[in-house]
Amino acid sequence: MERKRIAVVAGDGIGREVIPEAVKVTKATGAPVEFTEFDWGADRYLRDRTTVPLDGFAMLGHDFDAVLVGALGDPRVPSNVHAKEILLGMRIKMDLYANVRPVKLLDEKLCPLKGVRAEDVDFTIIRENTEGLYCDVGGVFKRGTPDEVAVQEDVNTRKGVERVIRYAFEFARRHQRKRVLMADKSNVMTFAHGLWQRVFKEVGSEYTDIEQQHMYIDALCMQMVRAPGQFEVIVTNNMFGDIITDLGAALQGGLGMAASANIHPGKTSMFEPVHGSAPLLAGKNMANPIGAILTASMMLAHLGMSEQSERIDRAVLAAVRLSRTTSDVGGTLGTRECGGWIADNVEKSGAVGRA
Ligand code: NAD
Ligand code: IPM
Ligand code: MN
Repeated sequence: MERKRIAVVAGDGIGREVIPEAVKVTKATGAPVEFTEFDWGADRYLRDRTTVPLDGFAMLGHDFDAVLVGALGDPRVPSNVHAKEILLGMRIKMDLYANVRPVKLLDEKLCPLKGVRAEDVDFTIIRENTEGLYCDVGGVFKRGTPDEVAVQEDVNTRKGVERVIRYAFEFARRHQRKRVLMADKSNVMTFAHGLWQRVFKEVGSEYTDIEQQHMYIDALCMQMVRAPGQFEVIVTNNMFGDIITDLGAALQGGLGMAASANIHPGKTSMFEPVHGSAPLLAGKNMANPIGAILTASMMLAHLGMSEQSERIDRAVLAAVRLSRTTSDVGGTLGTRECGGWIADNVEKSGAVGRA
């Protein structure tokens, strides 16, 4: 297979600690990939006020097969402007409309719920990634006065809703899943989520092999805690997807365990762990690298390297079972030691495979 080119934006805080581990583990698979690092993030922004260089997104699209991102967000940039321009810029300007966030429990000891087995938590949330409340449409009027008005528009286009719902049905078929659930708040947001209701029915009529369900988002949150085993594929809008994927991360053992992919089929896509830059944890060699490592595994699978991806998944599972992990999930290792253990394991499994 030809070598794939991967752009790496480790970003801020623990992003700069977990991404080197994900890169190390990817290299240990022997996958035909090459990495190019970019310094986009808070340090660069504070140095010269640049976030993304001119034509940066077009460059990623032309010159790279995938982008691996750590996290963006730094208390020294309270406006978060650099994170918005880099992270939301990639998602929106590169039109990566499907944010795929698996919720998979690797071992029951990691789940905060009692009586839940690992196989009871295994579903995928597909979050709309380019519109909704993330469009930055709105404004303030009479700012700083008692009559101040703040408006943040929720933008839902037929094209945007239809393509992510279709993606969810196609994803279900591809992964032998039998059910897709759409979550919204159409009982209150009658215009915006009325559109989601109609489009879900229309697109769903083309997928009669897949069972179609609906829940209001508040009820879904309750059910994700009460009986997570009932879900297979959940599709929802950008903001609700953001919120329920942190809840999903908690079911898997915490934010340190959760991986994600930002996809536009056929275009250069972006891969990042669900967690943020965790400023208080940064620089301590304590951050859990598994979310980032599983993100690299999703990236390899997306690039057609499923054998290498599966080897990473197996090594992570072994690390979790043997508690060769960081303290947030019950282990005693540091970030580098956990990444190193998984990389060694991946390398050995390759040697066994070749023997
Ligand atoms: P966070 O994900 O950084 O941290 C939330 C909690 O989870 C903290 O207690 C943290 O210590 C813990 N945590 C997160 N990742 C962990 C890991 N790998 N190992 C162990 N523990 C981990 O979220 P936050 O504190 O709300 O946000 C911090 C900054 O990150 C903000 O600037 C925010 O905007 C940004 N952020 C960025 C992204 C991203 O780049 N994709 C995602 C979420 C938040
Ligand atoms: C995430 C994050 C981002 C989001 C922030 C940092 C803009 O919370 O990736 O889940 O809201 O999408
Ligand atoms: Mn989030």
